[in-house]
Amino acid sequence: MTAPLLELRGVSCAADGVEILRGIDLVVGEGEIHALMGPNGAGKSTLASLVMGSPEYQLTGGQILLRGVDLTALAPEDRARLGVFLAFQHPEAIPGISVVQFLRQAISARTGVADLSVLEVRLSLDDWLNRLGMDRAFAERYLNEGFSGGERKRNEILQLALLEPDLAMLDETDSGLDIDALRIVASGVRSVHAMRPAMAVLVVTHYVRLLEELIPDFVHVLVDGRIVASGDASLAVLIDAHGYDAVKASAR
Ligand SMILES: Nc1ncnc2c1ncn2[C@@H]1O[C@H](COP(=O)(O)OP(=O)(O)OP(=O)(O)O)[C@@H](O)[C@H]1O
Ligand SMILES: [Mg+2]
Repeated sequence: MTAPLLELRGVSCAADGVEILRGIDLVVGEGEIHALMGPNGAGKSTLASLVMGSPEYQLTGGQILLRGVDLTALAPEDRARLGVFLAFQHPEAIPGISVVQFLRQAISARTGVADLSVLEVRLSLDDWLNRLGMDRAFAERYLNEGFSGGERKRNEILQLALLEPDLAMLDETDSGLDIDALRIVASGVRSVHAMRPAMAVLVVTHYVRLLEELIPDFVHVLVDGRIVASGDASLAVLIDAHGYDAVKASAR
């Protein structure tokens, strides 16, 4: 049997000595779409950052394996090279860097190819802009400078498309995302997934609306650093109707 793409075995972690995740077991197979839900402060973003290798978090127990290989000793850039991707919840504006320049750097970091030609990047970027129904001028915009919520999401989807990750993690907890921005994410992820069906997706979200358009294979509910329930897409519908308390109560 081959090892699953991502496996968390009894993972616990802390930040500044405070325990956040407490014994997470999670298996994400190739091509699967998983949604991670749960109340504010449950540890959802922490889980994604920990898998990416953020130095903010210390693994205090368990193992994180990518295709059976322990990631513990690997820096975030090594993990990115192995195909792990995390789109940040609050991407910073980077002064003077355009979308196309940023993507060129990110692709270099991902592939280890230092001298990618702008033309090459430009061509596949144009291809994706077209496929995703975005304006070509978007590539020349400065990264996140004055980006609307929807434009930030477009940028996130472009990263997803061009970096060709094997495990794509999206943290969609942006408050105030309108329905158009949610659709950009849902249809963007679906388009990329259709082109690269082996890519697995782990999406953090509070929005059932997002999951109605991006049908997940599995939904997990994280409360107080523990997964208290896992199920299919119908679990998200249950949460929408009855809240997290109903899920917590039925998990006891
Ligand atoms: N670097 C850190 N240092 C100290 N505590 C932290 C750190 N990062 C997260 N925490 C704490 O860990 C808990 C989980 O935070 P996390 O951001 O993972 O929650 P979340 O489930 O993503 O919440 P939300 O839905 O609001 O985005 C919170 O209590 C938070 O304050
Ligand atoms: Mg969060």
